[in-house]
Amino acid sequence: MSLFRKKSLDILLAQTTDSDKGLKRTLGAGSLIALGIGAIIGAGLFVRTAAAAGQHAGPAVTLSFIVAAIGCAFAGLCYAEFASMIPIAGSAYTYAYTTMGEMVAWIIGWALILEYALGAATVSIAWSEFLNKLLEQFHWGAIPYEWSHSPFEKALDAANVMHYGLVNLPALLILFLLSLLLIKGTQESALVNGIIVFIKVAIVIVFIIVGWQFIKTANHHPYLIPADAKPAIQPDGTEYSYADFFRHGWGGVLTGAAVVFFAFIGFDAVSTAAQEAKNPKKDMPIGILGSLVICTVLYILFSWVLTGVAPYTDFVKSGKEASVAYAIETYMQGYGWLAKLVTVAILAGFSSVILVMLMGQSRVFYTMSTDGLLPKAFSDLHPKFRTPYKSNMILFIFVGAFAAFIPGDVAGNLTSIGTLLAFILVCLGVIIMRRNDPDRVRPFKTPLVPLVPILGALVCAAMIYSLDNRTLLTALGWMAVGLVVYFGYSKSHSKLKS
Ligand code: ALA
Repeated sequence: MSLFRKKSLDILLAQTTDSDKGLKRTLGAGSLIALGIGAIIGAGLFVRTAAAAGQHAGPAVTLSFIVAAIGCAFAGLCYAEFASMIPIAGSAYTYAYTTMGEMVAWIIGWALILEYALGAATVSIAWSEFLNKLLEQFHWGAIPYEWSHSPFEKALDAANVMHYGLVNLPALLILFLLSLLLIKGTQESALVNGIIVFIKVAIVIVFIIVGWQFIKTANHHPYLIPADAKPAIQPDGTEYSYADFFRHGWGGVLTGAAVVFFAFIGFDAVSTAAQEAKNPKKDMPIGILGSLVICTVLYILFSWVLTGVAPYTDFVKSGKEASVAYAIETYMQGYGWLAKLVTVAILAGFSSVILVMLMGQSRVFYTMSTDGLLPKAFSDLHPKFRTPYKSNMILFIFVGAFAAFIPGDVAGNLTSIGTLLAFILVCLGVIIMRRNDPDRVRPFKTPLVPLVPILGALVCAAMIYSLDNRTLLTALGWMAVGLVVYFGYSKSHSKLKS
């Protein structure tokens, strides 16, 4: 049946062994871990930790990180099996095409648009927040609220005047600049990525060490938000109630996990570099799982310090934006220099995350287009730069529309749903592949199959369930549009048609 037609794994693998003309194999285990961390540490840690603490989990956001890490570890083990067995760019989409057939591959590809395109939009919105913070720190004025927020946001200023967002211009600007860079084909060399990773990790470690001395035990008590917690005040002056099941106690921890899950997105990007790894069979699992372990440890310590330095309710109002710089300036006297350094490092760090996301998206589009599922424009290469420039331009318009007009938390939650869905399908794919192709050589094997993939799928499904209904409905709508496109266009244009 054509909906379930599959790409042959043997043909795919034969294509990669003939890779003299293709991508160069230059990345070792260390570079792969660095690549992972470069894509992982970003807005999830520096913006969404505070949002998850303020709105859902309180100081127990550390537990949220552990829950999200468990889901990612299970899914990461499944990714590692696929990435070592099918070391081909295209990641989850390609895995699905060989295991579950074309329609599921399409669904994953469509969900990956949420992950990469909306992920880039989310981080660009966070970039805009920190740019404003930087301008303020150096007394260079500020971009007016109207021009740096979506039309769905409003806030009172110090003089109690209400401001309404119109369009987020700084977010558009950074997306535009990075899209140009991608079109020009500037390679994010291992060196540049290495420097940014070093700066990001150093800033996180310095914040943990310095901030540790400013932890107030009272801020960590009670550890879970109590059901009868007093409402917090939001930037527009209205109250934020904690009464809902997913806004206090263990329900809050679970939703917090879905919110900070965003911070882990990117380790799967390591798998898209499989064709550039020197020894993918051994190094892919090390790259994926190694970057995941390092980030998990840093995240738990970081969130423990952040919620110890500032009361979590601060992150609903005054510390809602640029939360880390806010916490340092407000509660860590004498460390104003650190707040400035953090802001600069974060701006650089966000830029590399956006770049990787935009690049990942254009690669997925490229593969889908060469398979015939998307129009040829998505794989047309620039005559001089040899980059998918049309795809980059279309992507800029699409991502830019979200970044300009949608609030960061909405875009972020949609990103998480899309990624969680892809993770679930990759977990199920491991079980299916073991059954359908048991003799295939698997350099890395996910342990305890089917238990680990099933647990991975369940933890990811629980995180999806705990997100708000508006996000769930929007994601469902998005997937429905995807099916219309599949049946209206892709199915009949697929190269596997014959
Ligand atoms: N994990 C990436 C971030 O937090 C997407 O920005």
